Amino acid sequence: MEIVEAIRTRKSIRKFTPTPVPKKTIREILEIASRAPSAENTQPWEFIVVSGEVLDTLRQKNVEKVRNFEFPPEEMSHLMIERPKGSVFRNRQIEIAKQLFSLMEIPRKDMLKRAEWLERGFRYFDAPAAIIIVAEKTLSIQGTYLDVGSVTQNICLAALAYGLHTCIENQGITYSDVIRKVAGIPDSKRLTAAIAIGYPDWDFPANQVQSEREPIDHIITWRG
Ligand SMILES: Cc1cc2nc3c(=O)[nH]c(=O)nc-3n(C[C@H](O)[C@H](O)[C@H](O)COP(=O)(O)O)c2cc1C
Repeated sequence: MEIVEAIRTRKSIRKFTPTPVPKKTIREILEIASRAPSAENTQPWEFIVVSGEVLDTLRQKNVEKVRNFEFPPEEMSHLMIERPKGSVFRNRQIEIAKQLFSLMEIPRKDMLKRAEWLERGFRYFDAPAAIIIVAEKTLSIQGTYLDVGSVTQNICLAALAYGLHTCIENQGITYSDVIRKVAGIPDSKRLTAAIAIGYPDWDFPANQVQSEREPIDHIITWRG
């Protein structure tokens, strides 16, 4: 697949078919993605690939937590921060939620359906595999997130060449206590991102979503 086409067609997929993804394929994708640039070639990323029973246990334990309205551990509290009301960021967040709820026919006030929707992310959107990206805590947070961002996007783009789709998701790392225990991730590693990966179920309404972008001229400043 041509690079520009891949960038333009990548989108977040929120339901996958149960078809397993061969470990060999995920390995190839990660090998390609790890060509990502990083500050001074530090390559802070490490990948924990979860599937099968381990992933099923993660789904079950995450859902238990969310049903009990449990707060995430302190180390993940940065994921809970709300964007200021009226800000462009909050408005964009609302817009994508509206689009998804409309496609899924979830009325704004239907708390049951909303809760069911929320759980999907904690189930890794029923993907056959998920990639948890971690990095040593000894590295600076700022540098780590920029580097992990580039490898994360590479994974999502490289996956497309194999007919695979993805959803990057904070929900997938929210209950870090569960993930550490079930996937065997020590406290010395920072949980930076989760990516659900698999073959998309195109019959699932939310997979038709096309997120919007700010017109590019609104966000470019030319000097000189
Ligand atoms: C860091 C990060 C965290 C995200 N977390 C979630 C998540 O927890 N649940 C979810 O449904 N989507 C999540 N997304 C997907 C975004 O909602 C999505 O990228 C955005 O709406 C733009 O849509 P697109 O990816 O289809 O272009 C996340 C994306 C990023 C980059």
